[in-house]
Amino acid sequence: MPVLTIDGPSGVGKGTVARIVAQKQNWYLLDSGAIYRAFALAVDARGVEIADEEALEKIAKTLDLEFKTKSGKGGNELVNVYLDGKDVSKILRTEKTGEMASKIASIGVVRAALLKRQKDFDKSPGLVADGRDMGTTVFPDAPFKVYLTASADERANRRLKQLQAQGSKGIILQILTKVKARDKRDSSRKHSPLKPAKDALIIDTTELSIDEVIAQVVALIEA
Ligand code: DC
Repeated sequence: MPVLTIDGPSGVGKGTVARIVAQKQNWYLLDSGAIYRAFALAVDARGVEIADEEALEKIAKTLDLEFKTKSGKGGNELVNVYLDGKDVSKILRTEKTGEMASKIASIGVVRAALLKRQKDFDKSPGLVADGRDMGTTVFPDAPFKVYLTASADERANRRLKQLQAQGSKGIILQILTKVKARDKRDSSRKHSPLKPAKDALIIDTTELSIDEVIAQVVALIEA
């Protein structure tokens, strides 16, 4: 099946681009970050220590996780995430959950245990998969690979605007510090670090609108 991988650092707009391209192509969507986030919530809820790899592996392998759209059709609309039967969509997106996910995602046994669950999203007629290692590890044979970047300042600004749009407040310097810390952790880890696949199209989105990025991605698929 055709797979489009979209990798890149946090706050670069991967999720938005992936969702809109999946919608345009009528392909399935894999938000792999949501899997790591849900896993982090499950570990936190069970009070398991990060050092207890055996327990982590067991939780990863038995994770009761479901992605559902409001229409029930699955795929391309905004997706609600259910963990142990409970809707965790809101808490999943918080900065705290993202940070927990980033920490726990550096553990090799966790990545290995969550691999098959991600590969299983590869279904007809096609898949858009976004994350950190979609093009390098999960779908290395994907015919279409994109790596999105943007300066840390720009990504912190986008995050601030997103928070403001949700009626929350943020302090730009604090956001920037967190963005840089997450970049460092995600790209310096031993297992499947954040980096572009050798055959990925690298798009610097610092000066681009979402529509301009989408046009480049769609052009890659249609070329
Ligand atoms: O894309 P996101 O912000 O939802 O991801 C949250 C964290 O999960 C990210 O900081 C690192 C981890 N992650 C990962 O290690 N590999 C992926 N493919 C996706 C996310």
